Amino acid sequence: MSTPLIVDTDPGVDDAFALALAAASPEVDLIGVTTVFGNVPLARTTDNALRLLSLFGRDDVPVAAGADRPLVHPLQWPAHAHGSDGLSGQADTLPPPGRDVDGRDAVTLLVDLLTAAPAPVTIVAVGPLTNVALLLAAHPRLRSRIARLVVMGGGIAGGNATPSAEFNIASDPEAARRVLVEEDLPTVLVPLDLTMRCAVDTTWLGELAASGPVGRTLVGLTPTYRAYYQRSLGFDGLVMHDAVAVAEAVRPGVLTPARYPLDVDCTFGPGRGAVVPDRRPRSVSEEFGVDQDRAVDFAVDTDLDGLRSFVLERLKTL
Ligand code: RIB
Ligand code: CA
Repeated sequence: MSTPLIVDTDPGVDDAFALALAAASPEVDLIGVTTVFGNVPLARTTDNALRLLSLFGRDDVPVAAGADRPLVHPLQWPAHAHGSDGLSGQADTLPPPGRDVDGRDAVTLLVDLLTAAPAPVTIVAVGPLTNVALLLAAHPRLRSRIARLVVMGGGIAGGNATPSAEFNIASDPEAARRVLVEEDLPTVLVPLDLTMRCAVDTTWLGELAASGPVGRTLVGLTPTYRAYYQRSLGFDGLVMHDAVAVAEAVRPGVLTPARYPLDVDCTFGPGRGAVVPDRRPRSVSEEFGVDQDRAVDFAVDTDLDGLRSFVLERLKTL
């Protein structure tokens, strides 16, 4: 039986590739998509999600809109890596959505899907964690219906939105701390340290574009995002942050884990939004009262070429 999967997302160019991978993978049953503010405002991330699922032939998957801003403190910066519409200015070139956004809000859809699912659900969160925090705070009894969380976020060696904070976590540090530190669900955190290493080049993109209309359209959504990342990559490529997280949901264990207790900096200093793993030896950290029982699996490595080939072969089937 395929694994029930829900993706919480802020499309977003790399989110588009993540949704495509989820839609194209028979190992998972994509039962729902919830949208959140992030790369662009909520109305846009929601319309983008609807258009992308139509592009992938998945109008069967309900899309519900969630939080339009962080839990507590306002967003500090306009994101621009994905273009003003979230898809390199190409969002409106996609076919209009084949159906309306779901009448339920994101948390209500999550509750309904988790309750009805035939087995515990994997939730992949690839945007700010506001919706997931709201779900867990309001519906603690549903924890048992969540098999695991796979979260794209954090940066052990530093951030991208700020020197210390990765964008998804930095967008709502309080929500991230609620989910990653205060909860005890099985969690895989996929940080920048790994996702930046999974970038694909123009040869990869060219092969996807040549695979057919969906691949060509997907690649057509990337120019602004590629231009943004070219400065940090040093070459023209696509950083598939979010697809790396979905790959772990599709093929559990494809990412190599390292388990650490962690904290999320919710202060207003230079470290705000930083994910701080405690990598000291357990005997040392226990002396300082660190709760080893709450630790998450940081995805620290993978077969990079194998992952790139896996994602490409899957996307070419769309
Ligand atoms: O820092 C990368 C993350 O922030 C990705 O999820 C990307 O889509 C942006 O939301
Ligand atoms: Ca995202």
